[in-house]
Amino acid sequence: MEILVAGAGQMGSGIAQVAAQHGHTVLLNDRDNDLIERGIATIRKNLDRGVEKSRITQGERDEALGAIRGTPKIENLQVDIAIEAASEDFETKRALFALLDAQTPPHAILASNTSSISITSLGAATKRPERVIGMHFMNPVPVMPLVEIVRGLETSQETFDAVHSLAGQLEKTPVEARDFPGFVSNRVLIPMINEAIYALYEGVASAEAIDTVMKLGMNHPMGPLELADFIGLDTCLAIMNVLHDGFGDSKYRPCPLLRQYVAAGRLGRKSGRGFYTY
Ligand code: CAA
Repeated sequence: MEILVAGAGQMGSGIAQVAAQHGHTVLLNDRDNDLIERGIATIRKNLDRGVEKSRITQGERDEALGAIRGTPKIENLQVDIAIEAASEDFETKRALFALLDAQTPPHAILASNTSSISITSLGAATKRPERVIGMHFMNPVPVMPLVEIVRGLETSQETFDAVHSLAGQLEKTPVEARDFPGFVSNRVLIPMINEAIYALYEGVASAEAIDTVMKLGMNHPMGPLELADFIGLDTCLAIMNVLHDGFGDSKYRPCPLLRQYVAAGRLGRKSGRGFYTY
């Protein structure tokens, strides 16, 4: 398949890498060539590590890299599917979906990697809502086996079947969810993280103690505060706000400490400081 990945950040580059390693031709798009180059550099690094660890051969590495081309423009693209992995902002995604609708062939599926934005609303920004769907990969994409497939109100069975089969071909396990705030993954995960932040805020235990309880007591690979830093505190706050607005239920109120850290620019790993210093 010809796949467009719109957004060359952490998620987009991971999706492009996995698609290229499974025999697809990938067009990687972002606002400018520097951002695309950065995405391709991450992919190269991951593939080189794969060769070092004997998970893939040098030939497979070269073939995957050769299957990825960068494009700063979304214009008359002959692709079968576009997977959008832009920043988690409704206006950005809405505009991108309208553009993808105009610049891809009518048969193309438009998928979003959004972690919480309504697929139904993104569908409404296009003239093909039956071909709009959520394809939510987890971070780090090359490692995590799940893809949450989200049906918008108008998503057709044909679109669902095509994306379900693509996820399987990418060696991911597809799980179906309906289009309600946070889907399944973030409806369960982010309130847990928010509760851990409340425990810290109320002085129940230190950050290290909270994370140790969840790692050693519940076998989580990362504690919730370490995971929040990994996801990005701004993203965690944005998702809590989507849950709070979408359900109108006070149980989803973001912890004041989370708001304060985001206001201070402590966004986690990407800014060098969150609950921990990097
Ligand atoms: N890209 C590619 N490969 C990566 C990677 C990355 N960014 N990070 C780690 N890996 C690979 C490593 O190469 C390593 O493979 P080898 O052992 O074969 O070398 C393997 O993953 C394990 O990595 P490490 O030994 O460095 O570290 P680890 O054992 O602590 O595992 C982890 C790292 C896989 C990230 C693990 O800590 C983990 O599973 N954490 C939880 C991740 C999680 O919950 N993700 C979901 C986040 S929520 C989300 O994505 C949805 C959302 O909408 C917010």
